[in-house]
Amino acid sequence: MEKYGMNTNCLTLTRFFLQEQRKHKEATGELTQCLNAILTAVKAIQSSVRKAGISKLFGLAGNTNSTGDDQKKLDVLSDELFINMLSSSYTTCILASEEDENVIIIDKERQGKYIVCFDPLDGSSNIDCLVSIGSIFGIWKREATEGEPDLSDALQPGSKMICSGYALYGSACMIVLATDSGVNGFMLDPAIGEFILTDPDMTIKPRGNIYSINEGYTAKWDEAVKEYIHNKKNPKSGKAYGSRYVGSMVADLHRTLVYGGIFLYPATTDAPNGKLRLMYECNPMAYIIEKAGGLATTGKGRVLDVNPTDIHQRVPFFVGSKDDVEELLECYKKHG
Ligand code: AHM
Ligand code: MG
Repeated sequence: MEKYGMNTNCLTLTRFFLQEQRKHKEATGELTQCLNAILTAVKAIQSSVRKAGISKLFGLAGNTNSTGDDQKKLDVLSDELFINMLSSSYTTCILASEEDENVIIIDKERQGKYIVCFDPLDGSSNIDCLVSIGSIFGIWKREATEGEPDLSDALQPGSKMICSGYALYGSACMIVLATDSGVNGFMLDPAIGEFILTDPDMTIKPRGNIYSINEGYTAKWDEAVKEYIHNKKNPKSGKAYGSRYVGSMVADLHRTLVYGGIFLYPATTDAPNGKLRLMYECNPMAYIIEKAGGLATTGKGRVLDVNPTDIHQRVPFFVGSKDDVEELLECYKKHG
């Protein structure tokens, strides 16, 4: 199949997903259609990220370009792409975005059964300096079968998610997708504009040797996190853990998934619930890491079990290799 210098039978993300859906008798193809809308948004965002400098997509929104059109910042543009692609896919009824205060209810005639929560461009502080950024999304099914959808339909725990994923705009563009049957990675082949299955059945090592946290806030952590990080730097035996922190969660968590280890965004004295948002940052990532064999906790309980009360609520977030996260939980047990 490779004799023309090309795999003529490559497994694209859409093809992979269609195959997966065939395994479920009741599947209608609506989820594949929903994912295709997300793929289109991701491809357009990745193309904009790559040419952001030359087309002046960096910096503040609100500038006017030479033809008089408003220039959009990358995060505004990414948000519009997600919303426009998903709301015209006939598969969604509610959208929730980090960029929009209120949930978006899709017009009745275009409604489908899925609820999508997303962060269209995470790691915005890294945009202007060309460091990796990403998009994150989680998909739930609406439980109610009648009536107009509203916010309460979207406030479901992460454990009810049916699919989640992220796109990493790094040295290459990759989508990692988790469903009930596991985690798979797809790399964008820019020559054909398709995501190709390159990392099937991704799993996370039970233990890594890297911790990832913003150590600038050390003085504001609770005692459990302080002790845990101290132990990683000063082990009673063996080597100290390495420290890596990009400051883009998608990049930090992709490394954690591939190399193992732990990512921490704890509560601080200033921010008692931490910084990261439950619905479109922590839940989708927690689902992926758990499906890959790792753990995700708030320090008090499983992230996926948190019952949300607000679409933009924050939670402390600790995620990664099972043994590493369990070791942190021991510190929480000790410090109460
Ligand atoms: P953003 O949604 O405004 O981009 O913020 C989320 C980002 C994450 O990607 C990253 O893990 C975190 O903020 C870094 O925050 P800090 O600079 O406080 O370490
Ligand atoms: Mg974000």
